[in-house]
Amino acid sequence: MDFPASYAAWHGLSPMTDFFRDSDPGRFLVAGSGSHVTDAAGRRYLDARSSMWNLTLGHSCEPVKEAMRQQLDVLPSGTVLRYEHPPAVAAGYAARLAALLPDPLRHVRFGNTGSQMTEQAAMLSRFHRRMTGQPERRYVVAVHNGYHGTGPLATALTGEPILHEWSAPVDAYVRHVTAPTLPEILALVDEIGPDQVTAVLVEPVLGSAIEPVSLPFLTSLISECRARDVHVILDEVTTGAGRTGTMTVTERLPVAPDMVVLGKGLSAGYFPLAALVVARSIFDALADPPLRLGFPNGSTTDGHPIGMAAGLAVLDVLTADGFLAGVRDTGRHLVDLLASGLADEPAAGPVVGEGMMLALGLAYDDGEPWSVREVNRFRLTCRDHGLLTSYAPGFLPLMPPLTLSRDECAELVDRLRAALGAHKVER
Ligand SMILES: Cc1ncc(COP(=O)(O)O)c(C=O)c1O
Repeated sequence: MDFPASYAAWHGLSPMTDFFRDSDPGRFLVAGSGSHVTDAAGRRYLDARSSMWNLTLGHSCEPVKEAMRQQLDVLPSGTVLRYEHPPAVAAGYAARLAALLPDPLRHVRFGNTGSQMTEQAAMLSRFHRRMTGQPERRYVVAVHNGYHGTGPLATALTGEPILHEWSAPVDAYVRHVTAPTLPEILALVDEIGPDQVTAVLVEPVLGSAIEPVSLPFLTSLISECRARDVHVILDEVTTGAGRTGTMTVTERLPVAPDMVVLGKGLSAGYFPLAALVVARSIFDALADPPLRLGFPNGSTTDGHPIGMAAGLAVLDVLTADGFLAGVRDTGRHLVDLLASGLADEPAAGPVVGEGMMLALGLAYDDGEPWSVREVNRFRLTCRDHGLLTSYAPGFLPLMPPLTLSRDECAELVDRLRAALGAHKVER
């Protein structure tokens, strides 16, 4: 197929024909303001997917922009990768971020993407074993349909067999349970052999189903894994940085996991930024590894000052009095509005989720959930009604900016209702 030069940017996760469906450069986005974006043809959309679930403060967050501008003037580049001169702003941001998480999560590694950091979490867990005389602990247990990004190990951690097949070979020492339940996870740990397992990795809200796992489950998981000396890594790339109405889900737990992965909203989408927050015990064990090699994992732009400045300014916004309570309020308001506004729409089912991480169930007349193809078709109908959303099998994820106003909540529901009214279901 002959693509014009305007299609030179090749993204990975969708076939090019889908990605630029309609072959219309007029769809390229050229401007953003608050919760809205405008395409090259001048059409305006309400962005109910916050770019890729990360633009948590919308396009007009002046304090974040100003912090980035100032940093650009003072120290526009730098790294934490090597040598004894990390940017001071990275040290300051790490301390501030760690202080928001429960003890003993006190050490922060920086990166650019969630994939980089989930992969790094698993590798750090294994490295810790190698350095503490347990090299046979290699297996990571993750959850079927969990999403942890892409890369040789991140793809393996992601519980989608089709991705494994298409990306083969991926890391062989990852096994998946079919559902995030304690008996299943412990049974798999026992089957592999508890002394062969280094870590269990879970998302506090399963992104593939917008399904929160319970806090008692996470608490028991951490306790049971600790009893078996297995690390627990919580992937808060999506749930963290305020998305679910608290800074993290981790802070709501009575016991801390061994590592927490953060990304997406950490910089409110203004800079590629992700972090891995690590328990003191793991750090202490590795502070002086043999051969003075250090943990061999990192990239040139880790701890980039512009990202650090953005991250600090985002924390100022998130920790301002009442901000996160406001996110919880807006989330509840949106759920209520969706329930009343879509009550007459036969395809619309219940809204699930937490905070501003929501999903609308969609079903055929006989109650069967819509196929992923149908939801994707509906996403395009929404787009044609000025509303950008993600799609998933059986439901429409709704991840608007946390700063969505009451008027914008109403706009979202109006556009969704118009789209549902216009959509022709194909089965
Ligand atoms: C829970 C979770 N982990 C990891 C990732 C990967 O992050 P990134 O796309 O920044 O590599 C994502 C991205 O959607 C995610 O939702």
